[in-house]
Amino acid sequence: MIQKENRIGEVVAQNFHTAKVFESLGLDFCCGGKKSIAEACKERGIDPEFVVSEVSKVETSNGAAAHFEKWEADFLADYIVNNHHSYVNNSISTIEHHLAKVIDAHGLKHPELAKIDENFFLLKEELLNHMAKEEKMLFPYIKKLNIAYKNTLEMSAAPFGSVLNPIKVMEDEHTEAGRLMGEINKLTNTYSPPADACGTFKVLYAELKEFEQDLHMHIHLENNILFPKAAELEKKMNKIYSTL
Ligand SMILES: [Fe+2]
Repeated sequence: MIQKENRIGEVVAQNFHTAKVFESLGLDFCCGGKKSIAEACKERGIDPEFVVSEVSKVETSNGAAAHFEKWEADFLADYIVNNHHSYVNNSISTIEHHLAKVIDAHGLKHPELAKIDENFFLLKEELLNHMAKEEKMLFPYIKKLNIAYKNTLEMSAAPFGSVLNPIKVMEDEHTEAGRLMGEINKLTNTYSPPADACGTFKVLYAELKEFEQDLHMHIHLENNILFPKAAELEKKMNKIYSTL
C-alpha cells in the first residue's frame, strides 16, 4: 500500500511502471528518488493524494512487472551495462548526426539548437567518463562483493576503502547528468518540436526524449537499487568478518 511518506525511489524500485506517473508530473524519481512523495509534491505544488492514487492504480494493474529489486547485484550490474550503457554508447552518434543536420538547416531561426548541442556535448562527455569508471572499477567490485558474500569468501581491502566512497562520487555525477538532461528538456520545451520543424528535427526531439527516459531509468536502477544493495552486501560482509 503506497503512502505519501514513501520515498519515490523505493516506490519505483517496487514497480518500475510507476516511473511513468512520476515522470508525467515532473517528479524526479532517479536523482531525487530519496525524497518522499509528500516532499517532492510540496516542491512542485502538486497534491500528494492525487499522486498516491495515480501510482496505486499502476500498482494494481501491473502484476507481471519486472522486479529489479529482487535481482542479485551482479546480475543487475550486468543488465545495466548491457542495456543502458550500451544504449548510451549506441545512440550518441545518431543524435549528434541529427543535431548537426538540424543546426545546419534551422540554426539561425532556432538559436536554442546551439544550446541543446552544447548541453548534449557536456552530457556525452560526462556519461562516457562516468560509465567507464563504473565498468572498470565500481561494478566489478560490486560483483566481487556479491560472489564473496554468497560463498563466504574473505575479500582484500579495496583501494577506495568503503564502497560508499565511489557510490557517493557516482551519485554526484548522476546529479550532474540529470541537471544537463533537464536543461535539454527545458530548451526543447519538453521535446515539443516547433511548428516549422522538418522531419529530422522531429526525429531528433523524439530521440532526445527517449534518451532522457532511458537515462532516468538507468540512474534509478543504480541510485535506488544497485547502490543500496552494494552497501548492504558490504555491511553484511563486515559483520561476518568482524565476528570471525
Ligand atoms: Fe551511473
